Amino acid sequence: MAEARAPGKAILFGEHAVVYGHPAVAVAIEAGVNVAVSNNKEWAVEGRPLDSVRHPHLKSIISRMRRGSGPFSFQISSTLFSAAGQGSSAALSVAAHLALRSHIGESSNLIDAARSAHLAEAYAQSGRASPTDTATSALGGCVVVSSSLPPMAKHVFGSELETSEGLRTWDVGTIELPIDSDPPYLVLGFTGNPSKTGKMVAMVADLISSNSERKSDLDSIGEITAVGLVALASAEWEAVGMAMDACHDRLEALNLSTPFLEKLISSVRPYSLGSKLTGAGGGGCMMALTRDPERVAQMIELHGARAMISSFYNEGAQVLI
Ligand code: MEV
Repeated sequence: MAEARAPGKAILFGEHAVVYGHPAVAVAIEAGVNVAVSNNKEWAVEGRPLDSVRHPHLKSIISRMRRGSGPFSFQISSTLFSAAGQGSSAALSVAAHLALRSHIGESSNLIDAARSAHLAEAYAQSGRASPTDTATSALGGCVVVSSSLPPMAKHVFGSELETSEGLRTWDVGTIELPIDSDPPYLVLGFTGNPSKTGKMVAMVADLISSNSERKSDLDSIGEITAVGLVALASAEWEAVGMAMDACHDRLEALNLSTPFLEKLISSVRPYSLGSKLTGAGGGGCMMALTRDPERVAQMIELHGARAMISSFYNEGAQVLI
């Protein structure tokens, strides 16, 4: 048997725009996904035959294994909200890649895991996915993804994907977050309404092809992200929060927010440095940057959503056994 763990992620700025090459900044969160792999008579997930429609990510990860390996059984346990914008499918894919490779004794590393998991995301999202969620889950810490990295990022690997809109290329880098003795917290609020990333990414693609003016919202998200990143790299948390608020306004203009997300976001603003939807939108999660995480979590739960508090500095994926 082999087991691996990969964390979920929260996108501070840049979701959706990153699919078009603009920068995005994401951090690994404390919660994550564990995947255990063991020998079995047939391919199975949680004791049931593997259904490739229900588990497209696993199907894609398995397709890149050495020929003739398997069949294996997967046991999955997660502390993430599912289909909530916390990168649960990316974490599942990264952990499954590492556990499978470890089980068959094939060497692999975090960059291979990020690349393979990105292909799995693209397969499950009708060909459109940036490497943001998968790279953050694999590498941990704070990750920047962009068609051209800003100078403060340390380049880790390059990534490309053939999409129906042409070849997309990204560079993936990490940012050394400054040592701060009193960093704020992230609080995530799950609306309880699952959101399908592929559907939301396709909706934005339709919106900008039918109304080219909306493309300027993606350009603005790119500019806000560049400013937010400078603030983050120097631990200017108030400015980070302002960039998060500004990013949310553009995401809302792209019809990615919902009345419930708006209610949660406005309810936590008095106790937060910044707040926004995070991930694909259309449901899923919002998040707040705050020095008063208990109060923000309370507000989120008072409004009928589920709250999760996370610190900033979290490790990436690892093989456990
Ligand atoms: C989803 O967590 C982030 C999106 O930008 C999609 C992607 O980057 O593939 C919405």
